[in-house]
Amino acid sequence: MTRADPIQEYRKGDFLVSTDRSKLDVDGVHEFLTDCYWAKGVPKETVLRSIANSLCFGVYGAGKQVGFARVISDFATYAYIGDVFVLEAFRGHGLGKWLMECIMAHPALQGLRRWALATRDAHGLYAQFGFTPLQAPDRWMERHNPKVYADSES
Ligand SMILES: CC(C)(COP(=O)(O)OP(=O)(O)OC[C@H]1O[C@@H](n2cnc3c(N)ncnc32)[C@H](O)[C@@H]1OP(=O)(O)O)[C@@H](O)C(=O)NCCC(=O)NCCS
Repeated sequence: MTRADPIQEYRKGDFLVSTDRSKLDVDGVHEFLTDCYWAKGVPKETVLRSIANSLCFGVYGAGKQVGFARVISDFATYAYIGDVFVLEAFRGHGLGKWLMECIMAHPALQGLRRWALATRDAHGLYAQFGFTPLQAPDRWMERHNPKVYADSES
């Protein structure tokens, strides 16, 4: 039992958002992530480890998993949202916004001092949930290795 338990489920029409890791289509999540701009080439083993150590949100409908996001958190002060996606055929119908609503409503993620995420072009989605550009970028540092998966292949 971790702070992220018990499993949370949210329903809207024919769709379900669930934090039950056992429901995840891990092959489908890997297939999307290994081809996306931020995690290109990510090995399946890395995706599996990230899922095992995150609070994961799957979106289900039409008989399959159609979306995903995961939260890295201490469940006390800080949370980072990553690997957010909705499959292309299901975009533009409010599932991304609903997924964000479910994440922000999770009982283990209340009263945090800070939420963070990185995005190339979906700022307008996250702005609807109170996210802003860094207010004091000079106070932030990062160690980023965008070639990490390419390096691990060689
Ligand atoms: C981003 C993504 C998850 C949104 O999912 P979705 O189900 O299409 O989103 P919704 O239908 O709920 O609407 C998204 C809202 O954010 C806004 N938005 C802003 N930037 C956006 C962007 N780059 N992509 C999609 N929506 C964006 C839309 O205009 C919409 O707001 P509105 O209804 O007030 O106009 C989906 O487009 C996706 O998977 N994209 C590819 C992967 C990706 O870029 N993930 C985010 C990485 S940080």
